[in-house]
Amino acid sequence: MLHLFMKVKSIPQRFNCYASYWKHSRIMRPDDANIVGNVHGGTILKMIEEAGGIISTRHCNTQSGASMLDPSPVQQDRCVAALARVERTDFLHPMFIGEVAHVSAEITYTSKHSVEVQVIVLAENILTGAKKVTNKATLWYVPFSLQNVDKIIEVPVIEYSSVEQEEEGKKRYDAQKMERLETKERNGEIINPVVSPEAYTVGFSQSSLIHLVGPSDCTLHGFVHGGVTMKLMDEVAGIVAARHCKTNIVTASVDAINFHRKIKKGCVVSVSGRMTFTSNKSMEIEVFVDADPLVEAARGKYRAVTAFFTYISLDKEGKPLSVPPLKLENEEEKKRFEEGKVRYLQNKAKRQAEKERQQ
Ligand code: COA
Repeated sequence: MLHLFMKVKSIPQRFNCYASYWKHSRIMRPDDANIVGNVHGGTILKMIEEAGGIISTRHCNTQSGASMLDPSPVQQDRCVAALARVERTDFLHPMFIGEVAHVSAEITYTSKHSVEVQVIVLAENILTGAKKVTNKATLWYVPFSLQNVDKIIEVPVIEYSSVEQEEEGKKRYDAQKMERLETKERNGEIINPVVSPEAYTVGFSQSSLIHLVGPSDCTLHGFVHGGVTMKLMDEVAGIVAARHCKTNIVTASVDAINFHRKIKKGCVVSVSGRMTFTSNKSMEIEVFVDADPLVEAARGKYRAVTAFFTYISLDKEGKPLSVPPLKLENEEEKKRFEEGKVRYLQNKAKRQAEKERQQ
């Protein structure tokens, strides 16, 4: 385990030490990558979420005297932790087919009903031994009772190695809670097909896919894993970016995503993406996920998630290329472009500040 993130001191006596750490390695295969061998951002997001789901579900079931070695000394309500939020994450380096992805996850904070998990992904070139950190992600999970999916379970507390670490965790918890209240869901918006769109307009690259939610997409409750949803979202965003610039494209970052609504097995999900902003060398794509519970027609179609992905266009040597500017055709598109520009400038300033902090 690479101790790159905040360390949680030895786990309280009632928790077995397997509960708060998780490490997994897997070789990257052609299925995980695009045609030139870059591993998809969605594949990495799915691995990150799998690690987070395992560690938080394990932690939340390790309570009332139970441990991983002696799992059920007392009767307890078993639960599954569902992904509620992913903080903004940057893709720091590319990962390629044949490299080994090492995913390490650690529980770093617990509130009454949520678990913060920090995950680090390393890409190892097993021919040269070179290792690079490709992602650092922070995810929040909320545990649901297996007997009643509407019941949220209380999370067992972790023990912190210092008061400062607990306070830092509390600050992150308060900050995300505040941000969630401020972020508006874009519920009503839909992406309509455009007939014969002009090149480089929003309509030219907008794309969607439809997916029937099957058992392998779901948790023990029969609801979609957050990682599966993020992978579909990345797929659509990647198609939008590639249609716009017709080059090899890679995911550079994903803004914070809140998972407000569950998606049940049997639903048909429509994932739609449209370009909102282009800078000189980056493209921002907004993605909507709508769920249609076909057999529960009374529930109707609903918006489950929205997110912004940023993509970069690469030349044959993997160097960033300029992207064609987005042609804006109406006031709505101009407004979205200006909002995208604000996010772009804010994120750029944050990255710069982070760089300076590390020097
Ligand atoms: N990010 C982080 N934590 C969140 C959250 C979010 N987006 N939304 C809720 N929470 C936390 C709250 O902070 C609270 O914990 P606390 O009491 O320790 O502060 C806990 O969840 C319950 O909050 P509450 O307001 O009672 O619940 P809710 O009605 O807002 O429901 C979810 C929250 C997460 C249960 C609900 O939005 C949901 O079911 N989302 C879908 C989860 C899912 O299926 N994920 C995979 C999607 S593909």
